[in-house]
Amino acid sequence: MTDSLISAARGAQARAYAPYSKFHVGAALESPDGAVFLGCNVENASYGLTICAERAAVCAAVSAGVTRFRRAVVVSDVDPPAAPCGACRQVLAEFGLGLEIDGVGSKATVRWRLSDLLPAAFGPEQLR
Ligand code: THU
Repeated sequence: MTDSLISAARGAQARAYAPYSKFHVGAALESPDGAVFLGCNVENASYGLTICAERAAVCAAVSAGVTRFRRAVVVSDVDPPAAPCGACRQVLAEFGLGLEIDGVGSKATVRWRLSDLLPAAFGPEQLR
């Protein structure tokens, strides 16, 4: 599948800082009015401090004042496509379990709904 959001995520993937795993990930989040926010994974010599592409994209969006998303794309080079890790699922869930996420590998594309990736989610409503 090729579309502009995937192309944007590929651009972010090319900027991944992943000298340890060499696993390059790009993420793109699209707001309801079409604004696009990008992230790539940023690894660290202290491995546990690594930031995933999806969370980097969330931080870019929130820093720009955007907290609503209609679509997400996560690109890597593996098939079947890599799905967001558990931590990223939780962080994305903060902004809506209805999010559609396209996972894109080198060949295949898979579409998930976040609510299917994170059933029985803990969310903001639990704190009200
Ligand atoms: N990674 C992501 O960026 N997103 C995910 O959802 C899964 C994993 C990154 C973290 C690390 O830099 C590399 O992929 C290998 O785990």
